[in-house]
Amino acid sequence: MTIMEWLTSASKSIDRLDAELILTHFLEASDRSYLAAHADDELPNTAVIDGYVERRAKNEPLAYILGYREFYGRRFFVTPDVLIPRPESEDIIEIVKEQNPSEILDVGTGSGCLAITLTLELSEAHVAAVDISDDALRIAQKNAAHHNAKVEFHKSNLLESYQPKPGTLIVANLPYVDANWDWLDHRTLNYEPDLALYAEQGGLELIYRLIDQAPAECPLILEADPSQHEAIVSYAAKQNRKLVKQQNFIIYLQ
Ligand SMILES: C[S@@+](CC[C@H](N)C(=O)[O-])C[C@H]1O[C@@H](n2cnc3c(N)ncnc32)[C@H](O)[C@@H]1O
Repeated sequence: MTIMEWLTSASKSIDRLDAELILTHFLEASDRSYLAAHADDELPNTAVIDGYVERRAKNEPLAYILGYREFYGRRFFVTPDVLIPRPESEDIIEIVKEQNPSEILDVGTGSGCLAITLTLELSEAHVAAVDISDDALRIAQKNAAHHNAKVEFHKSNLLESYQPKPGTLIVANLPYVDANWDWLDHRTLNYEPDLALYAEQGGLELIYRLIDQAPAECPLILEADPSQHEAIVSYAAKQNRKLVKQQNFIIYLQ
């Protein structure tokens, strides 16, 4: 079977783009343009990639099938123990870079994509990261080693076991999904860990607890659904925090 024939057949059950990404990965090509340039090349045994197509057709995220996802231009290993990094979280990196802080803490680090990217983008900054999940911390450490990024990882339930120094910029993409939101594609979300997605109180429980725990002199950059921002800003106002900036999914509170 040629590359073109395989792509045509795979595209009957999954997105063409996903089929191209699977094949690019399998052939260890640098990008998808290789496929068009070699459309008539014969493929070796396709059993492995046919298996990938079957899994994708059952809605398993491509990132878990391939074992990685790009975030801010770098590749991060992912397994079903961690959330798949989302493009909307890249705004956190942009906002932190504008601030150029010397101390950063990432709360709920998951794959480590935020902490590791910030370490690499802001080479002068000291970056620490916490997560409540041992399995997530293992993946984050593997990613840090892969990128040669010096991040201090700790196991902690929010800030219970790790206290940031005064002035530390805290970033957090904590679980903020309300299990009752019916507009989400739960077929895909079902593959990601509940611990990384869902929170009580309309999705805001952990964000509220972090606002309560964070020292007053530590600014907070939080990700949440834009529909939740107003509630977060008014909750934070009770702790004398004010909104500095709002950008897509991200809010920056001082
Ligand atoms: C939405 S994921 C974000 C992962 C990563 N920061 C990212 O942006 O892709 C939330 C992470 O918070 C962690 N988490 C959930 N509850 C927590 C808690 N009480 N304390 C610390 N981490 C928690 C989960 O294990 C998960 O890794």
